Amino acid sequence: MGLKIFMKKFSAILFFFLAFFVVSLAQTSAQDTARRTAQTEDQNGPPKLIATGRFGKNLIIYFSQTGNTEKLAQTMKQVTGGDLIKIETQEKLPDNEKELIEMTTNLKKAGTNIKVKTPHPDVSGYDFIFVGSPVWFGDVAEPTAAFLVGMDFMGKKVIAFGTSGSGPGQAYDHLTKILTNAQVLEGGQIFTRRMMQSPGLEEEVSAWLLNMTLE
Ligand SMILES: Cc1cc2nc3c(=O)[nH]c(=O)nc-3n(C[C@H](O)[C@H](O)[C@H](O)COP(=O)(O)O)c2cc1C
Repeated sequence: MGLKIFMKKFSAILFFFLAFFVVSLAQTSAQDTARRTAQTEDQNGPPKLIATGRFGKNLIIYFSQTGNTEKLAQTMKQVTGGDLIKIETQEKLPDNEKELIEMTTNLKKAGTNIKVKTPHPDVSGYDFIFVGSPVWFGDVAEPTAAFLVGMDFMGKKVIAFGTSGSGPGQAYDHLTKILTNAQVLEGGQIFTRRMMQSPGLEEEVSAWLLNMTLE
């Protein structure tokens, strides 16, 4: 009889501990799921920094042959809500960097200029204009420079930007000089192409545009 009572009590205690263990396990798993969901929403949610409105009606003109300046320009469009214009060459150039360097080197040697087919846009309705170029041979890429010949920025506020493999050389300074009749703002920048691979690109571009002095 004594043994029976002991067994009953023991079973009750065992049952209590088992129940407690199962409930704790379920709670931990629910917390983990909630945490994972929050992280996913954080990663996929709207960008934390946006500069929409800061640049009013704006235009982003750029040249890009291997995609880096294009990625930057598209990210700027996402951040500012601007219009995009890509400068296109008359002859198709290779997208592969090695072939492109070879071809442009040969054209240089032969004294042949790269021509562009993109017409000059009417910039009169824009508050801000961004002009972007890759760095080629330490200078503004030839198609960007070719496009800018005869382009009149009509006293508009213009921001120069671009991408390079390792550094701007004289590309940034030269670009700001060939923006005819522009009020060139100081916050322009040539970024390294490495930054274009950064998962935080949108935030970095937002921070750059939000911190820029607009006078
Ligand atoms: C013809 C050519 C010349 C280049 N010359 C330079 C250079 O002098 N300095 C540099 O840092 N990067 C140089 N680069 C690398 C580019 O500036 C860099 O990859 C840039 O992000 C390319 O822009 P895109 O992808 O928009 O065309 C050169 C690339 C090419 C194709």
